Amino acid sequence: MNTVTIIGSINLDRTIRVKQMPKPGETMHTKEIFSAGGGKGANQAVAAQRSEAKTNFIGAVGNDDAGRAMLELLKHEDIDLSGVTTIDNEATGQAYIVVDDAGENEIMIHAGANEAFTPDYVQSKADLIKESDFIIAQFESSLDSVTEAFKIAREAGVKTILNPAPAVEKVPDDLLAVTDMIIPNETETEILTGIEVTDEASMKKASKVLHDQGIEAVLITIGSKGTFYDVAGKSGIVPAFKVKAVDTTSAGDTFIGAMSSVLNKDFSNLEDAILYGNKASSLTVQRFGAQPSIPYKKELK
Ligand code: RIB
Ligand code: NA
Repeated sequence: MNTVTIIGSINLDRTIRVKQMPKPGETMHTKEIFSAGGGKGANQAVAAQRSEAKTNFIGAVGNDDAGRAMLELLKHEDIDLSGVTTIDNEATGQAYIVVDDAGENEIMIHAGANEAFTPDYVQSKADLIKESDFIIAQFESSLDSVTEAFKIAREAGVKTILNPAPAVEKVPDDLLAVTDMIIPNETETEILTGIEVTDEASMKKASKVLHDQGIEAVLITIGSKGTFYDVAGKSGIVPAFKVKAVDTTSAGDTFIGAMSSVLNKDFSNLEDAILYGNKASSLTVQRFGAQPSIPYKKELK
């Protein structure tokens, strides 16, 4: 069983379902509104835990009802929350999500407490990182805190997995230097490498740019097409399962969390781990909401 530490965001997701996305200036009726646990970090932690990894979380909420409610949900998952702090005068992160009938979404986030915890705070939770097989981070917390976590991990021989989402203009070189595996989607790949992802050849080219920065393993999530990988001179695509998507929110998060729960530390079973992650996210997209849609291991047999 892997031990996985996730550093990242906890959001209260407020979802609005519509037939189709509104145009600028348009007013329309919704089909449904609901709230659920979200945040890329917390979603990845829930996915790892439901796939039976021992899961630690490093992050923050505000001193408010949303924060208390989100922590209650995560406690219920059996995630180790000793790395979560409550920050006064910051709001708990929130995401406003619009989902249309095609299952596509638009997401606006208010980071609040997620961006307020510091590298010093991360340092104070170093033990959680050191006891892990993997640490996973995204870009809904500060780049400095993520970099600090990865530096601690690298020194301790813990493998680092970076999900560079949502995209930032410039990923610091000292972060890439301590990244073992990177998992961008198509747009994030283009922002990171300047190479437009159109086919397998372009993904290989983009991977080379990332390998040249010292990153051992590159995975590019390509939505309904599956996952591209390029590691140790071997590359290919593990196709996604063909399903009818109603809400793709947290599909990528599910993939990453689930995959990390079965991945060997030396990446030797990468294709099998990707297949497992693809299977998990194929269930996520068939259900509404972020955390409520993330499957358990027993559903993936
Ligand atoms: O990746 C999906 C997540 O992005 C949502 O749960 C939302 O909170 C945003 O962080
Ligand atoms: Na979903």
